[in-house]
Amino acid sequence: MSVVTCQSSTLRGIRELSKRRPMEALYNYLGGTTGSWRVTEAATRSGQPLKPVSHIEIVNGPLERLPLGTSWLLRGVVSNTRYVSREERDALQSKQPALNRMHATCAALIPIKKTAAWWSLAQDERRDILETRSRHIATGMNYLPAIARRLMHGRDLGEQFDFVTWFEYAPRDSAVFDDLLAALRGTEEWKYIERETDIRLERT
Ligand code: HEM
Repeated sequence: MSVVTCQSSTLRGIRELSKRRPMEALYNYLGGTTGSWRVTEAATRSGQPLKPVSHIEIVNGPLERLPLGTSWLLRGVVSNTRYVSREERDALQSKQPALNRMHATCAALIPIKKTAAWWSLAQDERRDILETRSRHIATGMNYLPAIARRLMHGRDLGEQFDFVTWFEYAPRDSAVFDDLLAALRGTEEWKYIERETDIRLERT
């Protein structure tokens, strides 16, 4: 693979991060001209668009080089949960599937940024909106195990998106995934989202 060495502040930030956090928590989503996932659709739901790309590559751990043809890089770390109760955590653990299932050849990459108003709330107020009033966790749970997911946090890395969300499912569950998104996007929680891009993919 052709590569170009990049001494940008982004990569310096990644090296700094890798000193502080386990490397396996970091995920890099590279948008460009090559990759393991081919873009089938991309839609800017709100806020500034991302440059259109044909492929996405996912790299776990620190990145030393950006492949030639990379247009953008989204980074996030898998972190501790903020809102789930013990009961919800147990239910999730018993129901949620692993990523990389053979039949799950469709995926969605949905980076999200929430508003300053959201971040000014206290933890209990955010839980009230996310779950008590919007039923994010309860609704999402109904779509397991069809949908496998990875939630990554970018805010503390100074990334342009607060979250990078990744979902995998079988082609026959594409409409099911759209139903889930329609349900979540109609909730109070989504009023606190100021930037969202929805990129659909298929495994190459
Ligand atoms: C597949 C079913 C889903 C399940 C089971 C699910 C479950 C969860 C859970 C348990 C959390 C809370 C994590 C915590 O306590 O910190 C969460 C957060 C989140 N989910 Fe989902 N989710 C699903 C689908 C989605 C979808 C389709 C999206 C967006 C496109 C999404 C976007 C997010 C975001 C951005 C957060 C972080 C919210 C915040 O911390 O402010 N989820 N999800």
